[in-house]
Amino acid sequence: MNKKISIAIDGPAAAGKSTIAKIVAEACHYIYVDTGAMYRALTYKALQQSVSITNEQDLFTLLMETEIELQPSEQGQLVFVDGQNVTSDIRTHDVTNSVSEVAKHRLIREEMVRRQQLFAESGGVVMDGRDIGTHVLPNAEVKIFMIASVEERAERRHQENIKKGFQSDIEQLKREIAMRDKLDSEREVSPLRKAEDAIEIDTTSLTIQQVVNRIMSLVQERTR
Ligand code: CDP
Ligand code: CDP
Repeated sequence: MNKKISIAIDGPAAAGKSTIAKIVAEACHYIYVDTGAMYRALTYKALQQSVSITNEQDLFTLLMETEIELQPSEQGQLVFVDGQNVTSDIRTHDVTNSVSEVAKHRLIREEMVRRQQLFAESGGVVMDGRDIGTHVLPNAEVKIFMIASVEERAERRHQENIKKGFQSDIEQLKREIAMRDKLDSEREVSPLRKAEDAIEIDTTSLTIQQVVNRIMSLVQERTR
């Protein structure tokens, strides 16, 4: 595999994007960029500092004074906000239920996209999110739109919660996932949607390995 390409993976919550993106990035020796973590990082800081998540200008001011770093590690990708490790803080229920409100603002998206494009400048990147194939990397050589039924996605998050010893209510998870899908797909600025040239993979009844294999064969085709 000589040519370094860009791989864009979009789709709704818990479709399997980050799990698969990490494996594909490792296999290709590419960098992995979890763009959702960037929106989560800003949301975390806004909640911490009581900045209103509905006030676009205040959020933008906050973002411009915020350094967000993504660092690969043995335990997966670490996320730092202004030098502080917030990897687990950005996955809390409060952040998860506020992040789509933060991510809908035009000024926030423009700045996030600018930062994400810098990460991808030299190629050799796997990036996952909601608008990667449509806006962030419109020229990506491989574009995947990953979906799964809402029942399966809620079940996956439920299993993750159980493993971590957290309380979990599958019906509530289903409602929250459906609400985030709705906010992400119906927002005015770069909503979640499949790019015209993206390949859709329904992961509902596929194993992680099956999804990885499918993407790797596309990567091999496009790097020849
Ligand atoms: O991991 P999960 O699918 O739960 O979500 P995530 O990828 O961490 O993204 C969290 C939220 O950030 C999404 O629900 C979107 O509101 C927003 N997001 C976005 O708007 N655009 C992106 N490129 C990535 C995430
Ligand atoms: O990044 P995104 O929110 O799209 O999903 P994820 O966090 O990568 O995946 C959610 C969960 O589904 C993880 O626990 C994966 O192990 C699991 N998964 C699965 O069971 N089967 C797949 N084909 C893909 C992911």
